[in-house]
Amino acid sequence: MDIAFLLNGETVNLYGVDPTTTVLDWLRENRRLTGTKEGCNEGDCGACTVMVTDEDGTRPLNGCILFLPQINGKTLTTVEGLSSPAGDLHPVQTAMIEHHGSQCGFCTPGFVVSLAAGQINGENDHDRQIAGNLCRCTGYAPIVRAARSAARRPVPKWLRDIRTGPSFGATQDDFQPTTTEGLASLLSAHPDATLIAGATDVGLWVNKSMRNLGTTIFLNRVDDLRRIETAPYMIWIGAMTSVESLRLAMNKHHPSFGAMLDRFASAQVRAAATVGGNIANGSPIGDTPPPLIALDAMLHLRRGDETREMPLEDFFIEYGKQDLEPGEFVEAVVIPRDNGPDRLKVYKLSKRFDQDISAVLGAFNIRVQDGVVVSARIAFGGMAGTPMRARAVEAALIGQPWSAETVKAAKWSFAEDFNPMSDMRASASYRLDAAANMLDRVWLEDKGVATSVREVMP
Ligand SMILES: Cc1cc2nc3c(=O)[nH]c(=O)nc-3n(C[C@H](O)[C@H](O)[C@H](O)COP(=O)(O)OP(=O)(O)OC[C@H]3O[C@@H](n4cnc5c(N)ncnc54)[C@H](O)[C@@H]3O)c2cc1C
Ligand code: FES
Ligand code: FES
Repeated sequence: MDIAFLLNGETVNLYGVDPTTTVLDWLRENRRLTGTKEGCNEGDCGACTVMVTDEDGTRPLNGCILFLPQINGKTLTTVEGLSSPAGDLHPVQTAMIEHHGSQCGFCTPGFVVSLAAGQINGENDHDRQIAGNLCRCTGYAPIVRAARSAARRPVPKWLRDIRTGPSFGATQDDFQPTTTEGLASLLSAHPDATLIAGATDVGLWVNKSMRNLGTTIFLNRVDDLRRIETAPYMIWIGAMTSVESLRLAMNKHHPSFGAMLDRFASAQVRAAATVGGNIANGSPIGDTPPPLIALDAMLHLRRGDETREMPLEDFFIEYGKQDLEPGEFVEAVVIPRDNGPDRLKVYKLSKRFDQDISAVLGAFNIRVQDGVVVSARIAFGGMAGTPMRARAVEAALIGQPWSAETVKAAKWSFAEDFNPMSDMRASASYRLDAAANMLDRVWLEDKGVATSVREVMP
């Protein structure tokens, strides 16, 4: 594959690259830019964080699960490119020194790049910005102090220029379509090809499972799939919408969904991961399907010129099996809007608060009129082989007074709906209890009781 990008201000043209070469490997092995470190090689530690800039802005990404074609036409800044051409340190680097934010230093380049991207974007929630960066010796307090200090300083001129500079021309490649039409005909011609969107799942197939992906089609240049459109009757979310863009949109429309997405992986993974990838991978523990199902979302699929729609819940047939034909792809997911008050509550339960896969994820959309439950759509991840509705629980609620007694009685129905498995994340009985207790939480929050562990801390 042929690609072109700007690396720390220098134009790079590459011809005939293996499309599954990661940015991390290429930087270290071909350019000896060894400031970008390899820790986990699976998106979990942030040691490999690089900064990517294009017309959509600047974002931190994990170089270990970023394939070279994904940066075609973009600007790549590594830790080596953060200081000025004259050698002046970036304000984040200065602040890290002043606040003693580094000991062994292995994690430091990754933190510095994450924080530099956060500084450019005016991110003031430093915990959120560095949730994907692990440090095993310094401790996070000095690093957060450095972040606070850097946030008060201006973005250096040499990085402002990158953001405002002319957009850089990508190399055209047959396997990097630029329109939905182009993707549809390419995939029809190569129905066995592997689609690569954000590569936050696929990257691990290559790095950890050593899988040969065969023919690959990259979706990152299909701009018309990367859009959220809000109309009075629906929210259209294109398949290439990043989880970070979804988070920002849901903060407005369904704040509990948005707040849950704060805990979807890390800033680096959210910037790469797409909504289409999170649905298409069919994972029973993907975080977006349960809230989307609770919101009655419709999935739009496309194959060649044909399109079809289905309720999102019907897409998941059984573990590892989705209703997706060869040559077909996810085009969008559409949330209907009935203009009623937002009632969605989404709870993610995982062993760690940040950067962890869900053990159980519950999404509740319970509508109440004159004290009576008039509708209920409740969906869970982590409770079955697919994301799944809690239909018996819904039936136990609908038509009943919205009361502690109704909630108590409905909790028995969880055992009718689900027979979860035990694994390293949670036992079956824990999952069942935790899911049922989430219904209590909906009720308590409706009464204005503080339920978040963060709220009850001193
Ligand atoms: C460190 C780390 C933390 C993570 N944490 C979470 C988490 O908290 N919650 C969570 O839900 N997930 C998490 N994930 C998993 C992953 O980030 C998500 O599943 C993500 O949404 C996948 O999207 P992607 O664009 O990266 O997909 P890709 O990796 O590019 O693709 C995934 C699959 O979907 C297919 N695909 C992609 N787009 C389409 C399309 N438009 N049509 C048809 N098929 C398509 C691909 O061919 C592939 O089979 C994590 C991953 C990592 C590495
Ligand atoms: S090496 Fe750990 S996130 Fe990339
Ligand atoms: S300074 Fe050693 S891992 Fe962070």
